[in-house]
Amino acid sequence: MLTIKNLHAGIEEKDILKGINLQVNPGEVHAIMGPNGSGKSTLSSVIAGKEEYEVTEGDIVFEGENINEFAPEERAHNGIFLSFQYPVEIPGVTVTNFIKTAINETRKARGLEEMPANEMLKLIREKSELLEIDRKFLSRSLNEGFSGGEKKRNEIFQMAMLEPKLAILDETDSGLDIDALRIVSNGVNKLRSKDNAVVVITHYQRLLEYIVPDFVHVLLDGKIVKSGGKELALELEEKGYDWLKQELSV
Ligand SMILES: Nc1ncnc2c1ncn2[C@@H]1O[C@H](COP(=O)(O)OP(=O)(O)OP(=O)(O)O)[C@@H](O)[C@H]1O
Ligand SMILES: [Mg+2]
Repeated sequence: MLTIKNLHAGIEEKDILKGINLQVNPGEVHAIMGPNGSGKSTLSSVIAGKEEYEVTEGDIVFEGENINEFAPEERAHNGIFLSFQYPVEIPGVTVTNFIKTAINETRKARGLEEMPANEMLKLIREKSELLEIDRKFLSRSLNEGFSGGEKKRNEIFQMAMLEPKLAILDETDSGLDIDALRIVSNGVNKLRSKDNAVVVITHYQRLLEYIVPDFVHVLLDGKIVKSGGKELALELEEKGYDWLKQELSV
């Protein structure tokens, strides 16, 4: 589904990603861990096509197509979803209207008609129930005055509605209380299928108890320095990144 080959990217004169290789297949869940500033958010931004970052070398191939030059909207329309670490506020646009627009734009890009209102309503009801989202919440202005947990819940709602092929969740556990963590993980787990893949960026082993990854990768200074199964997250939690740095003598 997603193949990243020798990816180098940065901003102006600063190299941030220094040769990333990653293969994500349908049905898999990958976790990316790593210390602050190691390049995790940059990697997700580059996959999503944020224009402030420049790819200087390497390829991002999604569903057999090199997407290096694709605009963010094109990538979204092709089924890549990125949850933002710092979501934007859009006063006057409700949670529901935002998602309706997003769904219909994707349909338009695929040459489909707008989703009929009753179908949309049904989908909204179904997904908000799945994620235990209150009706009142759906008519609030997007991200305006949202608590950290509410922002995250909204992102997962967007993901559930859009049903992306590849979902990248950056720091989904930051600011989530125990209940919200469970609801979000539940949402992700319910979205998991043999055709979809999820990349979760997290600092905490705890999240990975709920969303059990098939692979864990450690990003250090712009490179994936170690990959393993879910037990790698436990080992990191126990020993910290210094252990890994020493082991790799970097
Ligand atoms: N837009 C930007 N402008 C300047 N520097 C940037 C920008 N984006 C990223 N960087 C730098 O690139 C490095 C990697 O940042 P990034 O946000 O990818 O780290 P991270 O692994 O997500 O960290 P955290 O765990 O704190 O979220 C940092 O040194 C950061 O300051
Ligand atoms: Mg980050």
